[in-house]
Amino acid sequence: MTAVTLPIEEQAVVAAAVETSLLGTYKRAPMEFVRGEGVELIDANGKRYLDFASGIAVNALGYGDAGVARVVSEALNNGLIHTSNLYRTPAGEQLADKLVECSFASKVFFCNSGAEANEGAFKFARRWARKIGTDAKVEIIALRGSFHGRLFASLAATDRPSYRAPFRPLAGAVSICERDLSDLETALDEETVAALIVEPVQGEGGVRVLDDAFLETLRTLTSKREIALIFDEIQCGLGRTGHLFAYEKSGVVPDMLTLAKPLAGGLPMGAVLVSEEIAATIQSGDHGTTFGGGPLVSAVAAHVLERLSNPALLESVRENGAWLGAQLDAIARRSGKVRAIRGIGFIWGLDVLEPAGDIVKRGWDEGILTLTAGEHTLRLLPPLTMDRDDLVRGLSIIEKIIAQ
Ligand SMILES: Cc1ncc(COP(=O)(O)O)c(C=O)c1O
Repeated sequence: MTAVTLPIEEQAVVAAAVETSLLGTYKRAPMEFVRGEGVELIDANGKRYLDFASGIAVNALGYGDAGVARVVSEALNNGLIHTSNLYRTPAGEQLADKLVECSFASKVFFCNSGAEANEGAFKFARRWARKIGTDAKVEIIALRGSFHGRLFASLAATDRPSYRAPFRPLAGAVSICERDLSDLETALDEETVAALIVEPVQGEGGVRVLDDAFLETLRTLTSKREIALIFDEIQCGLGRTGHLFAYEKSGVVPDMLTLAKPLAGGLPMGAVLVSEEIAATIQSGDHGTTFGGGPLVSAVAAHVLERLSNPALLESVRENGAWLGAQLDAIARRSGKVRAIRGIGFIWGLDVLEPAGDIVKRGWDEGILTLTAGEHTLRLLPPLTMDRDDLVRGLSIIEKIIAQ
């Protein structure tokens, strides 16, 4: 076969129409990204896109970060990418120590993704619940609007009918309850429920910041009835709200907390932070994963955690986030095309009248990346390092694509 080199603009058009060998689980945008710099991605044609998506809340430090690059190369110089969990390696232990130091947890389990972290937390909850209750204490309850992952139990805890329907039967004894205290009061049966899982800020479900008072009541109910309270901070944790952990804002402390997305700077990693009481019921052999907490990802995650714990960074996310909310409110009013805005820090959702996906697509032409959260919510998740000038630049494009 003769290779034909097309002019670069035509290559991009062809790429959009071409079938790739990747299984079609994603509808991908036509541009192909070849570089990242700061808060911008650059496509194969050299076009720059200001990033208000962060690889879906992963790239908290943006692209081409010198600190992350240095830690990756130092870790590689040791020759240790992986050893298995059969042996001790310092990086994973040090990272676990740091997570324990800066949180409520007494132990940490490492895995490779958000869904895996939640599945692990469900197992730990059941293990603990069987110790303190009977064999009937197994139910996991999630909330309306939740997203906890795409594996069988995390999917059963995810409130997206289109994601669930083709794969039934999902894992049993997992159910979804309204975000309503009287419904929850009935559903949270001490005899049968092992855990309640909650995103303090629901992400995929439309960016909903759950009320501090609501979370406090959930804490009271679950404590009284000896039900494990799991906070899924996979999207809203690690600085996105302007607090290292979203739970710090409300002061409501969970029994377990799951992390993933930004944890290892874009390398796959998840974690379950576990309270002393639950950790005490977990024994060797209860859970495992080949790659979890390997030396390379752990070294990078320790660096990312240190950077995201920096009080100056968190302060700037709180300050810029409040400013961002006020600007979005003004845009909403001027446009007449936004029904509501919700958010905190660097996670915002705008309920728009037209399909949000159409606005995202118009953004590609204008050089900005945004996300949806459901059909009519435009979601903004800029890197936490984005400064005021780039936020201003992004907002003016966002105003334009909403108005168009
Ligand atoms: C809150 C929340 N939980 C769990 C997940 C699943 O994470 P992963 O895609 O890494 O399995 C996501 C992913 O978007 C998420 O936002």
